[in-house]
Amino acid sequence: MTDRTRDPESLRSHQWYGTEGLRSFSHRARTRQLGYLPEEHLGKPVIAVLNTWSDINPCHVHLRDRAQAVKRGVWQAGGFPLEFPVSTLSETFQKPTPMLYRNMLAMETEELLRSYPVDGAVLLGGCDKSTPALLMGAASVDLPAVFVPAGPMLPGHWRDEVLGSGTDMWKYWDDRRAGLIGDAELAELENGLARSPGTCMTMGTASTLTAAAEALGVTMPGASSVPAVDSGHDRMAAASGRRIVALVHRELKLSAILTWAAYEDAVATVLALGGSTNAVIHLIAMAGRSQVPLTLDDFDRIARTVPVLANLRPGGQYLMEDFHFAGGLPAFLAQLEDVLHLDRPTVAHDSLREQLAGARVHNREVIRPRSRPLAQEGGVAVLRGNLCPDGAVIKHIAAEPRLLRHTGPAVVFDDYRTMQRTINDPSLGITADTVLVLRNAGPKGGPGMPEYGMLPIPDHLLKEGVRDMVRISDARMSGTSYGTCVLHVAPESYVGGPLALVRTGDAVTLDVAARSLRLEVSDEELARRRAAWTPPPAKYERGYGALYSEQITQADTGCDFAFLSRPGEVPDPYAG
Ligand code: FES
Ligand code: MG
Repeated sequence: MTDRTRDPESLRSHQWYGTEGLRSFSHRARTRQLGYLPEEHLGKPVIAVLNTWSDINPCHVHLRDRAQAVKRGVWQAGGFPLEFPVSTLSETFQKPTPMLYRNMLAMETEELLRSYPVDGAVLLGGCDKSTPALLMGAASVDLPAVFVPAGPMLPGHWRDEVLGSGTDMWKYWDDRRAGLIGDAELAELENGLARSPGTCMTMGTASTLTAAAEALGVTMPGASSVPAVDSGHDRMAAASGRRIVALVHRELKLSAILTWAAYEDAVATVLALGGSTNAVIHLIAMAGRSQVPLTLDDFDRIARTVPVLANLRPGGQYLMEDFHFAGGLPAFLAQLEDVLHLDRPTVAHDSLREQLAGARVHNREVIRPRSRPLAQEGGVAVLRGNLCPDGAVIKHIAAEPRLLRHTGPAVVFDDYRTMQRTINDPSLGITADTVLVLRNAGPKGGPGMPEYGMLPIPDHLLKEGVRDMVRISDARMSGTSYGTCVLHVAPESYVGGPLALVRTGDAVTLDVAARSLRLEVSDEELARRRAAWTPPPAKYERGYGALYSEQITQADTGCDFAFLSRPGEVPDPYAG
């Protein structure tokens, strides 16, 4: 990448600072008020550092320091950094689910970048929805941008065992319910599950989406697996700061990076990682902001061409730190060169080929060779059928193989609370063959499509040793969850999708090889039930929830807001 310097008058920020007249006079005076002399900022690229740091978000709690490293890099390269605090989406603490607020952060990102004197942006995030939110907003503005992943937390430890956040939380909670461990063990586990700042260190949603960002080409090479508290994370943040200034000088906008080819490669990456099903929704939404028409069928198509090579929990054995020292994403992508588009640019290199040159795998157990994959096909299958006319997804590599073709009687729960209250009720007659159905947990009905999709196994079955059952819902599932869980059923039940018509006792057939999910009930009977169906009452009378309910799209199209995802121009505030 050759370096060139732009004429300062061509910078977007010049319209705020450098033009004749009262406004620029006022902006210069107010920048002196911020404590800067004109020679410190005038004519330099203004870089917005969007920071999702918050005291409530343990995954981003180190980002306040990291923003300083980004600024250091921006100064070094001759730019002028300005930090903007933006919403934090804490997967752990925000209720009912941060998914309700992904589009709000995307909107905030877009409007901040548009309304302030910004020439380029560095985006700091990583906890689940924050990655797609920041990139969706930035893609809509289409300035140069670099994403700084928050980085995975240190591996968990308990006694002599290595713990994965999320994954092992579910596992030991089930053990507790089955009476296998007691209060003392549980207290120790509380200390060991999450040992440092940073995002979940399994290949959960956070690691999946930050890896997708790196595969898209919007991070520094190798950035997505640098542990959050490693000194290398500071160095990566500073390098990102230097890089964004070069990108502004080169006028390399996000739209030059976020192409159809880049999204195809991100899909291939996510699938080969055995990553989270949430990536399906987020990548479709992100692609929509880039005017790239990515669909569910693209996931199923690409899944058939890539094997799963990352031996990472929840599907495999290792954690993100192991992946980092095995070579990280550059080494991983170098195993997939035949399916990737190597001639597309990234923020760091003129081509992905150049970016991957010399990348080597240092641990063949963590990043498997093509001759020894964890699974022959990518981790996600897209199902269709009369129960999900617009599609549903299943992470079949995290399921017990015996259940991948299964017919069983449904036990239906109308909502999550009822399910929680009654799942252990013996009168429901739930057996290992039952198909558990949860409805009203979709984008509108949840609301926010909470991660309810891994419905709990009833206590009496857990005690018998049952650890997996077929579960179907219009919800999502945590990236660290596992099991035969059919998710994202579209359209959702709340808007009258066929899931709304299932009754306890109906036979349901799942056949993953045939990509099919069927309710074994005649069309005539379904029509009768549909005629008798009444829509549930609205969830919100006012406020953001009302806007959300009005604008949210279904899972198969990415759950963006209709008014944000549609094509169209937004005028630059100074252009008019
Ligand atoms: Fe933040 Fe898992 S809770 S990444
Ligand atoms: Mg999660």
